Amino acid sequence: MTDDRVSPRWVHWRETVNLEEYHLRWQRMEQQGTASHGEADFIEGYQPDGVLDAGCGMGRVAIELHHRGVDVEGTDLDADLLAYARADAPQIPWHHADLTDMQLSRRFGLIAMPGNVMIFCRVDHRRPIVATLAAHLASDGLLVAGFSLDQGDDALTLAEYDEFCLAAGLCLVERYATWERAPYEGGNYAVSVHAIDG
Ligand SMILES: C[S@@+](CC[C@H](N)C(=O)[O-])C[C@H]1O[C@@H](n2cnc3c(N)ncnc32)[C@H](O)[C@@H]1O
Repeated sequence: MTDDRVSPRWVHWRETVNLEEYHLRWQRMEQQGTASHGEADFIEGYQPDGVLDAGCGMGRVAIELHHRGVDVEGTDLDADLLAYARADAPQIPWHHADLTDMQLSRRFGLIAMPGNVMIFCRVDHRRPIVATLAAHLASDGLLVAGFSLDQGDDALTLAEYDEFCLAAGLCLVERYATWERAPYEGGNYAVSVHAIDG
């Protein structure tokens, strides 16, 4: 991908991964019952009134939520991955949009970014992305993001992420080390839940 809206990390991932094989691997895990659905379990637990899977990729999490009866939509910048999502679940509304300036016509009870989406976004896009997502939340909505806290030039710290959220009017309500709700004790992965402040 040469699109300058995507991060070097995403360009590298795309260069090293064969999409057809990646998709087949997930399909096989689904068929064999070995696919993990920790993210969907976590999201469904809030019984949200409408979910947006932001940076949905091939729709892994959104499709699982749809199977459970959750009203879900997905959005991603990468048309190639979205094509798999559309083919697998044409009944779900999929949006081809940049999270930085996306404008959807509805608000959601929960917006989720599973699968390290925040660190696959351009460093300079992370703050505006959080602001855009906050603008798509219902008044009692939640923003949920799980990402690695690994080191490197494009790392994102929890302090930075919390500051982006605060600037967008969101405060931290819960933080875990895993999607299974293990307590967060300073490890290198965190799942954060933010809500509209006040
Ligand atoms: C590692 S993938 C995760 C996909 C999916 N959430 C999952 O868990 O399977 C990161 C996704 O973020 C998307 N992404 C990165 N920057 C984006 C942006 N600015 N707007 C929309 N999507 C973006 C990529 O296209 C990619 O699909």
